[in-house]
Amino acid sequence: MRAITEILTDIVSEAFEKCGYDRSLGCVTEADRPDLCQFQCNGAFGGAKLYHKPPFSIAEQVARELAQDSRFSRAEAMKPGFINLVVSDEYLVEYVNSIANDPYLGIPQICRGKRAVIDYGGPNVAKPLHIGHLRSAIIGESIKRLARACGCTVYGDIHLGDWGLQIGLVITELRVRHPEWKCFSEDFDAEKDSVEPLDIDLLNEVYPYASAKSKTDEEYSRAAHKATYELQNGRPGYIALWREILRVSVADLKANYDKLGVTFDCWYGESDAAAYEPELMRILTSKGLLRESEGAQVVDVAEPDDTFPIPPVIIKKSDNSSIYATTDLATIIQRVRDFSPDAIWYVVDNRQSLHFTQVFRCARRAGLVCEDTELGFFGFGTMNGSDGKPYKTRDGGVMRLSDLIDAVTSAAREKLEGSSFVSQADREQTSRRVGVAALKFGDLMNYRAKDYIFDMDKFLSFEGKTGTYLLYTVTRINSILKKAGVSEDACLPVSGVYSEADRELLLCAALCGKAYVRAYEEKAPNYLCDSAYAIASSFSHFYHENRILDQQDPVKRESWLALISLVRRLLIKNLDILGIETVENM
Ligand code: ARG
Repeated sequence: MRAITEILTDIVSEAFEKCGYDRSLGCVTEADRPDLCQFQCNGAFGGAKLYHKPPFSIAEQVARELAQDSRFSRAEAMKPGFINLVVSDEYLVEYVNSIANDPYLGIPQICRGKRAVIDYGGPNVAKPLHIGHLRSAIIGESIKRLARACGCTVYGDIHLGDWGLQIGLVITELRVRHPEWKCFSEDFDAEKDSVEPLDIDLLNEVYPYASAKSKTDEEYSRAAHKATYELQNGRPGYIALWREILRVSVADLKANYDKLGVTFDCWYGESDAAAYEPELMRILTSKGLLRESEGAQVVDVAEPDDTFPIPPVIIKKSDNSSIYATTDLATIIQRVRDFSPDAIWYVVDNRQSLHFTQVFRCARRAGLVCEDTELGFFGFGTMNGSDGKPYKTRDGGVMRLSDLIDAVTSAAREKLEGSSFVSQADREQTSRRVGVAALKFGDLMNYRAKDYIFDMDKFLSFEGKTGTYLLYTVTRINSILKKAGVSEDACLPVSGVYSEADRELLLCAALCGKAYVRAYEEKAPNYLCDSAYAIASSFSHFYHENRILDQQDPVKRESWLALISLVRRLLIKNLDILGIETVENM
């Protein structure tokens, strides 16, 4: 089903054409001034330039044509040349009922048949998952769900950082502490020798220690680089130890992502790209793209129109080791082979934007992807504390994601303490869902590329634009439907518009489709937060104005129940795409 603005655009384009103007002028958008009308078209201004006529006279002519159409109750030209539109109640009701009956609940299937890989999460093995990775995980999860909801086949890949120096550091430190372990001996034999079991607390402690030490101790740092090199070149004891580190780390990551409702289709890591590196080198060599620079192998990617210098990508360092870019390029080869995607999207910190510019250019020069394959970098900003600086724990350390989840859960638990609606049995699950909803919504409601301030009290407020308020709205509708004896999945039709508040709520429901299109096109879940909030606040207003349960007129009562039951479905769907689970009561 198409977004209502698309349908109206067709109608208005037709009217422009009928009046002798180009149909491309007929673009209809949601009104900038909802107090004046529902929709608007500004095409007369473009027409004025094309046809050398005052915009108002074009607007008047087109509006006169549109006024004949029964789908509009008002179509009028406004000085200096706007066309203000209000759809008829009949049409509004018909459109909203078709959403209720649509298998996709009105979400336009704009990327049917498309295939995409989305790279998000990007945690590093052996390093504790910290809040820097939170944004990638929750924004990526939401973009994945959004694209799927719009008809795209999407493969979510975590792209684990499992092959870098951090592993070399952990190996080095473990070796200092346990030189007797078999995995450190040259003659380790994977067939008969085994590695000592590790645990996550140990890993969480070892990495920061080793990382700090390598910054002051040069010999130690050299040892860590050497260990990394030997690992990457297949030293059996190190490979076995690396597998153990991976096992422990991945189990911990899974547990944390689970709590956040974040899942991946593929758990590939940078290490999986290693198998594609020889092919990458062959392609780069055969196309003559490699050049030597200070002992390293690089590819130039600067372009004449660049407004700032884009340095060459380093493919192999002077010691012949591969780096981050090498892995990303090799991974592109793997993804093209495994998924034949039309698009590869990366949800990564804004600060890596230059890296991706280099990687994408190099991939195109080398022909690793077809010309029409989209390579998209969707960067995000930083989550800051109240001081405007990257969020830290009280003692100034980096907050662990698991601690953050625990903190929001216990804050939510406290908040729900007084509620008689939450049963003892549901209390734990409800607290977790409310806490996670607050955290995720507080993040996703900001345009992803912007930094934002983490404010737990604000995020958990029952009022205003918060995840808590949205979950609460759903529970209010649940309780009305229950009292009215309407089953939650009954799909009743709305029969008409009975108050100004109905009309406002119907319009909000009708506009959801457009929000999906915009969110998808810009890979920006905040537009879905806006539309969820608009529906929820419009519902609150509607509920305040109309006494649904006491309504004596059965036709009105039925219609209102149908409307709020649709609102409930729309909210749940919208929240689900944001990766937020609702609760029955709170
Ligand atoms: N592991 C990286 C980091 O922590 C993020 C990975 C992003 N994805 C990618 N394909 N490079 O910075």
